[in-house]
Amino acid sequence: MNSIEDKNLSKKNILVRVDLNVPVVNDQITDRSRIKSILPTLNKLKDSNNKIFLISHFGRPKGTKNKKYSLKFICNILEEEINIKKIYFLNDFDEKNIQNMINEINPGDICLFENIRFYSAEEKNDLDFAKNISKNFDAFVNDAFSCSHRKHASIVGLPTFLPSYLGYSFLKEINNLNSLLSNKDKPNLAIIGGSKISTKIELLFNLSYYFDAIIIGGAMANTFLYAKKINIGKSLIEKNYNEVVFSIINKAKENNCEIILPIDVVCANNLNEKETVKRCEIDNVSDSQMILDIGSKTTQIIAQYINKSKLILWNGPLGAFEYPAFAESSIKIANIIKSRSVNSEIISIAGGGDTNSVIKIAKAKDGFSYISNAGGAFLEWLEGNGSPGFNAIEENNIN
Ligand code: 3PG
Repeated sequence: MNSIEDKNLSKKNILVRVDLNVPVVNDQITDRSRIKSILPTLNKLKDSNNKIFLISHFGRPKGTKNKKYSLKFICNILEEEINIKKIYFLNDFDEKNIQNMINEINPGDICLFENIRFYSAEEKNDLDFAKNISKNFDAFVNDAFSCSHRKHASIVGLPTFLPSYLGYSFLKEINNLNSLLSNKDKPNLAIIGGSKISTKIELLFNLSYYFDAIIIGGAMANTFLYAKKINIGKSLIEKNYNEVVFSIINKAKENNCEIILPIDVVCANNLNEKETVKRCEIDNVSDSQMILDIGSKTTQIIAQYINKSKLILWNGPLGAFEYPAFAESSIKIANIIKSRSVNSEIISIAGGGDTNSVIKIAKAKDGFSYISNAGGAFLEWLEGNGSPGFNAIEENNIN
């Protein structure tokens, strides 16, 4: 593998792709995990006296300059996290400005570029754009697994022109995800929730090869229940997925993987009508209600599976966790996993933005062996599709 672990880059000008697409609420970063994850790579490059230039996107400004999506605000946070006096900032990718900045800064200094998605050339993977950026640099490091499922200029274009390496956080992500796709640590359990089966079809097919059991929760379970002709009232559902549901169930059977669906649920007339909340068996959902969480019997069953498993993957909440009335099962599951992981009895790996939020609400973060910083990239890797960013580095043979 082309990684900075084996390559001693020193006294060079280095471009590093990072993912500073951090969650921000009321101008405050609510989770610094993505920033903290890149520190080992930055420290190694800094300590070896390289001049480091960080490239990232932030939000989806769609190829136009928009102050709302500027990365300038993050310089202070980077200074704090990296423990460095100053993060230099470049407003654009102009060649002359890059040259000037390279001359201005000292070995070990770090400069952050403005949001690369201000340029439409980024998402088009315009190779002239990538080539121009690469001109003044000696090497490229990708430490942004969470956006390496995108075929963008700063992900797959730059490795066309520079010796390229994976950074430490990228390596950590793929090592952990690969540990899920092996047949070690059995029995194993996947807990898959979230709202849409349409985004997780390939994932479910692929996981059925590697996992002994898959629990289906969240609104995704409604689509399974509906296909099985269970009345789900006015629950959120994706129609026309009956065939997909049965092909997943059949594939799982073929692979000796159990698919577990809710046997009881928490319902309400809608998300905001707390006074209508009702707990019932799965065959007792009334026409006027929506399923908004799994019930306590189902949670108990999941707990039993967790207790007999050696490895657990969790992606997607089991209910509408943003509403306290429907967050109970997800919080409980986070804590059951935590109680087993704390004594290192199991390996527990979670990923996806909403899953990470639930784990945070449950204060169970320290109870997981690994929490991925990725959403889409996490799913695509577990679907068995690798990632374009990873392939671009692996195929790179420029010295
Ligand atoms: C993410 O937040 O998942 C990554 O930064 C990718 O962002 P994107 O979905 O806008 O490409």
